[in-house]
Amino acid sequence: MSVKPQLEGEVFYPTPEVVAQARIKDWSEVARRAADDLEGFWGKEAEELEWYRKWDTVLDRSNAPFFRWFKGSQCNIIHNALDRHQRSWRKNKLSLIWVGERGEVRTYSYFALNRDVSKFANVLKAMGVKKGDRVTIYMPRIPEIVIAMLACAKIGAVHSVVYGGFSVDALQGRIEDSESKVVLTADGGFMNGKVVELKKTVDDAVRRCPTVETVIVVQRTAHEIRMEAGRDYWYHELMKLPLATGSCPTEVMDAGDPLYMLYTSGTTGKPKGLIHGHAGYMTGVYSTLKYVFDMKDEDRYWCAADPGWVTGHSYIVYGPLLLGATTFMYEGAPTYPYPNRWWSLIEKYGITILYTAPTAIRGLMRFGASWPARHDLSSLRMLGSVGEPINPEAWKWYHREIGKGRCPIMDTWWQTETGMFQLTPVPTMPLKPGSAGKPFFGQDAVILDEKGKEVPDGKEGFLALKNPWPAMAMTIFREDERYKEQYWSTYPGIYCAGDAARKDKDGYFWVIGRTDDVIKVSGYRLGTAEVESALVSHPAVAEAAVIGLPHEVKGQAIHCYCMLRNGFTPSEELAGQIRNHVATHLGPIVKPEKVTFVDSLPKTRSGKIMRRVLKARAQGLPEGDISTLEE
Ligand code: PRX
Repeated sequence: MSVKPQLEGEVFYPTPEVVAQARIKDWSEVARRAADDLEGFWGKEAEELEWYRKWDTVLDRSNAPFFRWFKGSQCNIIHNALDRHQRSWRKNKLSLIWVGERGEVRTYSYFALNRDVSKFANVLKAMGVKKGDRVTIYMPRIPEIVIAMLACAKIGAVHSVVYGGFSVDALQGRIEDSESKVVLTADGGFMNGKVVELKKTVDDAVRRCPTVETVIVVQRTAHEIRMEAGRDYWYHELMKLPLATGSCPTEVMDAGDPLYMLYTSGTTGKPKGLIHGHAGYMTGVYSTLKYVFDMKDEDRYWCAADPGWVTGHSYIVYGPLLLGATTFMYEGAPTYPYPNRWWSLIEKYGITILYTAPTAIRGLMRFGASWPARHDLSSLRMLGSVGEPINPEAWKWYHREIGKGRCPIMDTWWQTETGMFQLTPVPTMPLKPGSAGKPFFGQDAVILDEKGKEVPDGKEGFLALKNPWPAMAMTIFREDERYKEQYWSTYPGIYCAGDAARKDKDGYFWVIGRTDDVIKVSGYRLGTAEVESALVSHPAVAEAAVIGLPHEVKGQAIHCYCMLRNGFTPSEELAGQIRNHVATHLGPIVKPEKVTFVDSLPKTRSGKIMRRVLKARAQGLPEGDISTLEE
């Protein structure tokens, strides 16, 4: 780029090295091409992958909003993530480098990963898992979680990963809803030097789930756990059986056959099991990762999310493998045993791309720049951020202290529902700290008012996506109507994201945060409804309301307002018990920051809790329109 465009606000321009290496020199040229011919663009991307049978249509809009991508095609994401690499030099390339919190290292070539996936796929088959069956995976950050996901996909089973930071109620609800017959777990995991008791949680959850016949347990911590005869099996013993051979045919899937489901919190009621399929998802994830992180064969890429969230699904597991890349995974806490753990891993393993969340950056920033300064971070060439808005201060620290001013930061906005990046820069795009860049190729993102009219540049409104994209969730498990209602009814024919945002005059998007009752705690997406039902399951709590309030490191923290039952009196001790109660039932990540006892809750005349009034009061802000507030 010879002439620097004049852009408003603080702007960071790409270095000549970044421009020289980049796949895309001119963002607008590719964006124009995709805008002119959406199907042509995605068809061409899909051509870079292998198909058992090519599609008849790139995009079938006939049953919108149930868009069908690559209709008529047959494929399997595993064919592209593993099988095809066995025929090339990549067979000997590292697919996965894993480091345990205690320092153990395990590496897998594409050959070895494929072998273990095939072996485990044969085990699953022997356990009676068939195409279309759901399998719940509740595991720590260890290679077996990746193997388990890939093995399910290989035989056409649908994995449902539940994040290991969730606890018994959350796990039970998700197993029950998915009707999984098989649950995959581990005896525990290591986090912050301690053992996380996963198996015990599985025992408690499965006791109440009649569909579960089999539990397969990976031995990670080797501490004492209970194994139930006839139901529980050790992974390492099954993998030694003669039936666990290293070859297993990859199931032929139709384009829209489900690949996985992933539960996510919404505004109301139980979590939604979003369904992603093979063909579109594989194409979207492949293409976004290729362009946005400009992935090269030489890269050692580290997405520091957990595989249990969509970021892990798309950009730890599937994306890198589709590209034949080397992906890095670390089991433990970033500050264990010292706050330099991440920086030492980057140095030791020559990581070239680091993709993480603002909360992690803020958390590490607290310890000061002297920790990263001790390490040689010169291998890094690209950084990424995801999960919540990144405050410009954290962006600049990340850029300066970690990226040494050389590495562009890809602030990627997307969701469990979108499966792939929607708003993002590309490496050659001038960057504005705090902005998630522009719509990805083929997307037409807009900021709308309540009536669906575009608001002027600079003005806040609701973020909406006008064009379909290949990795879009296909539906909510068994709830087509809810899918339509939730995402496509606010603005007919347009996807409503549930986020507030604005667009500046240069076309950069600035995401502000959720407009609904979803709370982002340390980047984790939690719903008020689930927390509220955990609160009222405590014997002292009659009614409860939950809101998210700003938190310096976590972004948002959970604040609870509880009305007590007769006979209970407010006390610090009771507040502590209630906080622990939520953590025990839903998981440590859901532990409330604060419990406040109240005599009443602000409600509409129809009895709905007005959380935004609580939020405004807590922050000393104007309460807004309270005409519907009940006296
Ligand atoms: O509010 C947005 C926020 O995370 C929500 C989606 O959460 P989840 O489905 O858990 O997926 C997170 C990882 C893809 C969005 O509605 N969000 C995600 N990325 C960003 C973001 N907010 C601002 N900037 C981002 N880069």
